Amino acid sequence: MPAGRTTLSEYLSQQSAQHLSLHPDLGSLVLEIAKAVQEIALLTSQGALAGVLGSLESQNVQGETQKKLDVLSDEILIQTFRSGNLVAGIASEENDEPLSNPKGGSFLCLFDPLDGSSNIDVNVSVGTIFSILSATPNATLTVGDYLRTGRQQIAAGYAIYGPATMLVFSLGHGTHGFTFDAASGEFILTHPGIQVPADTSEFAINASNERFWEPPVSRYISECKQGKTSVRGRDFNMRWIASMVADVHRILMRGGVFMYPKDTKDPSKPGRLRLMYEANPMTFVVEQAGGLGSTGRQRILDVQPESIHQRIPVILGSKNEVERIEEYHREHDRA
Ligand code: AHG
Ligand code: MN
Ligand code: MN
Repeated sequence: MPAGRTTLSEYLSQQSAQHLSLHPDLGSLVLEIAKAVQEIALLTSQGALAGVLGSLESQNVQGETQKKLDVLSDEILIQTFRSGNLVAGIASEENDEPLSNPKGGSFLCLFDPLDGSSNIDVNVSVGTIFSILSATPNATLTVGDYLRTGRQQIAAGYAIYGPATMLVFSLGHGTHGFTFDAASGEFILTHPGIQVPADTSEFAINASNERFWEPPVSRYISECKQGKTSVRGRDFNMRWIASMVADVHRILMRGGVFMYPKDTKDPSKPGRLRLMYEANPMTFVVEQAGGLGSTGRQRILDVQPESIHQRIPVILGSKNEVERIEEYHREHDRA
């Protein structure tokens, strides 16, 4: 290994020496996740050659048609965790109920095995999101064991399968990014101590939902679009990849605000994204990088979950922008 290149396993050893409060097996768990990520990255990179594109007949618990890669990625992660004895319980977007590992373990892992499914068949970046909680040793797991606020995550992160495969995560001591080097088969620390700028001139939202938004969101986006001619006094740029992982990754790299807010499109759903394996872990990495995550009315990490697959409004990214949007919600609610 050339001097100056820190591999993922070297980084994890350094972290456990430096932060004695870290669980001694947390590094091994991250390596287990990295192994699964490499397998998923290989499948996504082979695309049509591996016969992994397209949909299945099946639907997940949320009534969404499953893509082949949703299910394959889910199976890879479950198989990885079940072949070891680190993860006692597994909850995934693709499974109605959590699964337990007969071998037990010190952790619970909640994940979105393949985020951005609508982008798989068109060869646009997708990802894997994970959230780690501690498990009570030797206890029989119930759903209640998973229903803990995002603040209780001991680690969280994501893999992005883009032009480069990257693993970005936080163990609660900053957010750090690793790029997969296919030549050595190693993840290399390429983005230490990521910081999200507090101010931004870039927003990400699915504007086709505009007529369903609440007034504070419409106000914020309208001001951004009016740019220099509005109270903002500067022009804004817009991006929407429709893979949360890719949109949030961009924000970690150069700032911005990502929004999938509450809307009235389907009144039975308080938001599009899922709290436990999308909003919580992505907020954890963004906040560890100096950003902020909010529903507009409450910090995401303080939301008490009521079910594994519950949905939530998400406003995530540069601190001053998220605080501004929260203020617009307060002003609206007061009026
Ligand atoms: P998933 O593919 O895991 O179901 O998640 C898709 C999510 C998220 O990644 C993205 O931000 C959002 O759905 C896109 O929604 P629209 O298609 O409404 O833009
Ligand atoms: Mn997702
Ligand atoms: Mn998914």
